Parts: sequence; C-alpha cells; structure tokens
Amino acid sequence: NETYLGIDIGGTNTKFGIVSRHGELLAKEKYPTAGLREDNDGYIEAFLRILAAFLAAHPEITNVGIGVPGTLGPRRRSTMQLPNIPELSYYGLMDRLEGEFPGHVFRLENDANAAALGELLFATEPLPDNYVFLTLGTGVGGAVIYDKEIFGGEGGNAMEVGHIPVGNGLSLEQTIGKAGMVAMCRKYLKKGKWKSKLKNNDKLNSRKIQKACLAGDEVAVKVFTEVGRYLGQGIVSNLRILDIPTVILGGGVSKTYEVLYPSMMAELEEWLTPYYLNRLDIRTASLGNEAGILGAASLVIPQ
Ligand code: BGC
Ligand code: NA
Repeated sequence: NETYLGIDIGGTNTKFGIVSRHGELLAKEKYPTAGLREDNDGYIEAFLRILAAFLAAHPEITNVGIGVPGTLGPRRRSTMQLPNIPELSYYGLMDRLEGEFPGHVFRLENDANAAALGELLFATEPLPDNYVFLTLGTGVGGAVIYDKEIFGGEGGNAMEVGHIPVGNGLSLEQTIGKAGMVAMCRKYLKKGKWKSKLKNNDKLNSRKIQKACLAGDEVAVKVFTEVGRYLGQGIVSNLRILDIPTVILGGGVSKTYEVLYPSMMAELEEWLTPYYLNRLDIRTASLGNEAGILGAASLVIPQ
C-alpha cells in the first residue's frame, strides 16, 4: 500500500496529491499560487511550509515528484526560467529540498512533460507510443512522448512551445495564455462592436471569459475562436516539425473545446496537406486536470 506525493506547481494553483502505486489519486489539496506568492516569506518558504506539513502528516511517504512550470537546469536539480513564478526561477530547488527533508527522494520535471507522462502511464484509453502533448493555462506548455518516453532534447528542455513567436509580435503564451486571453478580450470590449456581459475592469479574468463563452457571450466566443486559431497554428508547427500525428490537449481547453474546435480545424486544413490531415488524431487529455499531479507522482513511482 505504498503512496507517493505528486506536486503540480502552476501559475494559478499549486496542487498536492497523494497517489497510489497504480495511479489512483487518494487525496488532493490545492493552494492558489498568488496566495503563496503574497506570503510574507515569499513563494518558496510558503511552499516548503506546506510540503513540511504534508510530509509530517504522512510519515509513510518518502518519494515526492514535482512538476515545475518552466525550464530546468542540468540533471534537473535547479529551476531556470519560470515565466509565471519568477520567485522560483533560477533556484537550486533540489539542494534546498534535500537539505530540508533528509531521507526523502525528490524528482523535478517540467510540468507539461510530467502531465504527458501521467497520460502515458495512467490514461483510461490506450495511447500510441508517440504523441505530442500541449497544455493551455496560465502558461502554454508542451511535451513529446517518443517511443513511450519523454523526448527532452539535448538539455531536457525541448518543446517550450509557449515561447515561439506567432507573428503578431507576441509569443503563443502571450497570445493565448490566461493573461493573453484577458488582453485580447479587453481589446474586443474596447472596440464595442459585439454584445457582451463582460466588463472591462480589473476583475476581468480568464475564468470569467470562459464562463461567458459557455453562455454564448459574443465577445467571449470571439476570444475562444481566436484561441482556436492560434492553437491550430501551434499544432501545424508541431506536426510539420515532428510528424507525430497524435496530439493531446491538456489544461483548460476541454470545457471550451467545442467553441475553439472549428477555427482550430480551419487553420489545420489551411496549412496541412492530406498526408498530415489524414493521420491527425487530436484528443483532450483523459486525466483532465489531474494529469499534472499524477504525472508528477509517477516520476517517483518505481516501475
Ligand atoms: C513554461 C513551460 C510550462 C508552461 C505551462 C510556460 O510558461 O515555459 O515550461 O510547461 O508554461 O506551465
Ligand atoms: Na515541456
């Protein structure tokens, strides 16, 4: 009855989950990342305090896997750029963890890579040996599973798809990540050409836009139509470069998938030949939002 701790550090939430050897999520807890960042002692100390409490409450857990939303240093011992949690950027996290919690085993992995691994090991439906995984949230991330393994490139940081320029002077993440979506929505609201219940004030956020979209709000639907278009372009680039026809979409896309689907498909049809289109298999992640925690835990579950 061994259990493992999987932690999914995200721009919006920092999630802790206790996971069985077979990938069952036995308990989970989430903390708004903004709250931890505003802690008097800062994000890192607030995070370590929660981790200490978790490990004290679960003395049976020794192995902890952590998904980190950014690039990682050599041998995955330190963080590098974390665009949405700058406080935790360029930080010797493994040294700190091993110093604070002797006797425990830690492993760090990029969050999108971890989620893609979670799908590989615990998905409810069978997956091919090769696939591309894209995740949309605060940040936009990616992973390639090749021959049932994470493809990391030379330094382990391949597939940073959020930071490729998309032709509008911005990166994919700056365009369709949460902040990008809000900026896009403000632009449409300002134009005043379309009906909307959304207000262009500082309370506007991606959750509200998503809710409005599901209720058929004209501006919100327009935003998600654009998200679909840019997502489609991202998929085109990945397909043309990698020639891996299975694409799994994780993060926040599943709820609005039907809205963004037509513009995404239109983009694919415009830019891809039948060779790619006929083999294309786009799916939403079967583990949904749990993929991150499960994938993080899977890093330290003996196979
Ligand atoms: C980071 C990626 C991460 C993604 C999703 C991006 O800003 O650069 O490493 O996978 O956000 O969290
Ligand atoms: Na990645």
